Amino acid sequence: MPNTNPAIKNRASALEQRFVELFGKSPRVYQAPGRVNLIGEHTDYNDGFVMPAAIGFYTQAAVAARPDRKLAIHSENYSEQVEFDLDDLPATGAGHWSDYVVGVVKMLLRYGKKLGGANLLVDGNVPQGAGLSSSASLEVAVGYALLDLGGPSTIDRTRLALLCQQAENEFVGARCGIMDQFVASHGKHGQALLLDCRSLEYRQLPMPDDAVLAISNTMVKHSIAKGEYNQRRAECEAGVRALSKRLPQVRALRDVTPEDLERYRHELPEVVVRRCRHVVGENARVLKAAAALERGDLQAFGNLMLESHRSLRDDFEVSCSELDLMVELAGQAEGVYGTRMTGGGFGGCTIALVQAGCVEAFQRTVREGYERSTGRKPEIYICAAADGVGRLA
Ligand code: GLA
Repeated sequence: MPNTNPAIKNRASALEQRFVELFGKSPRVYQAPGRVNLIGEHTDYNDGFVMPAAIGFYTQAAVAARPDRKLAIHSENYSEQVEFDLDDLPATGAGHWSDYVVGVVKMLLRYGKKLGGANLLVDGNVPQGAGLSSSASLEVAVGYALLDLGGPSTIDRTRLALLCQQAENEFVGARCGIMDQFVASHGKHGQALLLDCRSLEYRQLPMPDDAVLAISNTMVKHSIAKGEYNQRRAECEAGVRALSKRLPQVRALRDVTPEDLERYRHELPEVVVRRCRHVVGENARVLKAAAALERGDLQAFGNLMLESHRSLRDDFEVSCSELDLMVELAGQAEGVYGTRMTGGGFGGCTIALVQAGCVEAFQRTVREGYERSTGRKPEIYICAAADGVGRLA
């Protein structure tokens, strides 16, 4: 998939040169994007619906085969190189950046892929710790690169996404859903994806020409994020266990209707009711938002984004004061259809859908307001939906 963007081509050729310096051979170069989620938060691990888009920030991976069974991985971001033996990989992650790479290699091997030794150089510009899925972009870039190096057969992008998710769940130790790896694999220029996380069927939804995705980075990530994420999953699972006693067809919160929840709410702890209410409502909102986008009703789409934020804030309780402030400020700017927190929560970014002509005023309002209240300078990224993983050179 040739990429004609000059900035990306420059980065790729710089990476190629660096690879030659480090490993003395010309590599192939691949890249996979970060993502933003338009709507459908904390629904993926409940077999529900999400609507992410890949964005124009990437992890690039340069790779060449080597004759032995070693895997050398050099990170430009961490200025560090580590080496592993393909026949003696560690059993679990070590809390190191290379876990994302080694985890993917392990899952590819376990799935039966034949991998040979390789030298790898990785470099990314997806903001880290900002909830824009820099780790999924690393996993998918490396997985795709190693599979492509192995032979010309077509790569099953859905399988790749699943193996990368498995790497994160079983090797890195984060219980994430499928959304991030899926959109890093399947993203399409100019399109958001409506993904059914149960069947893994998806539909592309063209993004309107006259609106942009404005991603505002709060520049904070609260350390409780990982523990709280796992706790939310456990609370959703508790809801499923209790409800399935009454409703045997319920396998996941995806199968629960608002009426079901209302009927049996007194049998669930109050906090579990609120978690379930978020997920049940959010799934319905994603489907309504897809319909709104398809009929070009950005106002309706924006209202659903706001409802999603309130539900994440009040019922699912994964927002924080910085995200709430960012949403409030964006809501005050002219030409904003809607805005909400995006990603797992407890910091990271908000997303706003903004009329193309109003972007500069939006940036000013949000930047000045946020800095005035918090003393932090936010970063604002104006994005278009981008392509998923592919080979660059
Ligand atoms: C993180 C996870 C995703 C998803 C979101 C919340 O980004 O990696 O799988 O659960 O949080 O929607």
